[in-house]
Amino acid sequence: MADENAVLLECRKVSKLFNDEGNTQQVLKAIRDGVGKDEIQEKLGTVVGVREASFKVHRGEFFVIMGLSGSGKSTLIRTLIRLIEPTDGEIIIDGEDITKLSEDGMRKVRRNKVAMVFQHYGLLPHKTVLENAEYGLKTRGISWKERREKAQGAIDRVGLSGWESYRPSALSGGMQQRVGLARALSHDPDILLMDEPFSGLDPIVRRQMQQEFGRLQNEEDLTTILVTHDLDEALMLGDRIAIMRDGEIIQIATPDQLVTNPADDYVASFVEGASPARFMVARSVMSDDPLTARDGDSAESAVEMMRERKIWSTFIVDGGNKVQGVMSWETIQRLAQSGGTLHLGTGVRKPVTCDSETPIDELFPLVLNTRHPVAVVDDRGTLQGMITKNMLLEALAHDIDYDEEDPESKPDLVASEVETSNQPSNEVTSV
Ligand SMILES: Nc1ncnc2c1ncn2[C@@H]1O[C@H](COP(=O)(O)OP(=O)(O)OP(=O)(O)O)[C@@H](O)[C@H]1O
Ligand SMILES: [Mg+2]
Repeated sequence: MADENAVLLECRKVSKLFNDEGNTQQVLKAIRDGVGKDEIQEKLGTVVGVREASFKVHRGEFFVIMGLSGSGKSTLIRTLIRLIEPTDGEIIIDGEDITKLSEDGMRKVRRNKVAMVFQHYGLLPHKTVLENAEYGLKTRGISWKERREKAQGAIDRVGLSGWESYRPSALSGGMQQRVGLARALSHDPDILLMDEPFSGLDPIVRRQMQQEFGRLQNEEDLTTILVTHDLDEALMLGDRIAIMRDGEIIQIATPDQLVTNPADDYVASFVEGASPARFMVARSVMSDDPLTARDGDSAESAVEMMRERKIWSTFIVDGGNKVQGVMSWETIQRLAQSGGTLHLGTGVRKPVTCDSETPIDELFPLVLNTRHPVAVVDDRGTLQGMITKNMLLEALAHDIDYDEEDPESKPDLVASEVETSNQPSNEVTSV
């Protein structure tokens, strides 16, 4: 996702002013100078809809925009295809600055690259489901037969097969929503823009639609930008979430970053209800400085290192940091007593491994089933980090307030590690 080439849509300092005063340049300068939305509205008579919004959306990404009512979400998503004309900034779609396009060029982009689903699906009441789904394809010059095929395919994908000849009024809200989605999908868009598409639905249908949509997005390899008020929806569907306030993007982050590391109180208030643990993965829990040694290293220095770090297992890695095994304190200490070196043989165990994106609930059984730390490895077996039982507990205890003044109030996780990993040694605990 970090691949620059894969950027499908980019917003560069896009602003939208609702400005009747003809003082656009003055307002843009005020924005650059950091004058607030309310002050601009009061003193310059201009509503700032969107304020220097910058972000990149990658191919295949699900990008969510959240924010309070009036924060500029709808304005921003509409400016992306110039349904609302941006006042300033650039919008690059597939390498092309669409703010420079003629009306005709813009129509082509809307027809061929982007589809939009609105909250009130904009269905035509006198047309059937099938006709609604194929709406817009005719103007693209697609033959009747192909239109039917595309529309039927989209109807099947959203689970409305059998309803083709009905009118929207015969359908429930959730089903009408699917027709809106089918219409968007029938265009095979590169980018799907959705403005609160599920908000008109009752909670159960909404969850169902969200889940189905999540599945569709994966299957179709769509790039989606979704505006929503619904935190669960944002966290469930979003690869990244942008939080807006007063027309400005305050933070762009993955769901887990947003929940565990909100940029300010406003963002924190948005994610208040979400449990950070829900988003934790091995990467967010692990220590990226695992204890390692090589075949042939002195056992004495490995013992030193373990004492220093108070970690009672050492991973044996090769020159490329590939994990070859894990050794316990007892084994290494025995070797040290006889002045030996570490070697890949007796006493070297196969470590339990996981990858960096393993979700926290899958980590528990792994961590509990071994007396050694779990090795976090990439697909070539290269060691990236390690996870001990206490690292897991500490991550979950993230929200517990310790009395900073009183070090005793913070549990000594390192010392208790010795106990839980069942490798007590009087000598060790007294170190
Ligand atoms: N046509 C318009 N003329 C003047 N001001 C407008 C216009 N459209 C939007 N605004 C203003 O722009 C700001 C952003 O509105 P927008 O509709 O984008 O908010 P939103 O985040 O989508 O809110 P909601 O969650 O209620 O849909 C608001 O202050 C709004 O009053
Ligand atoms: Mg809106």
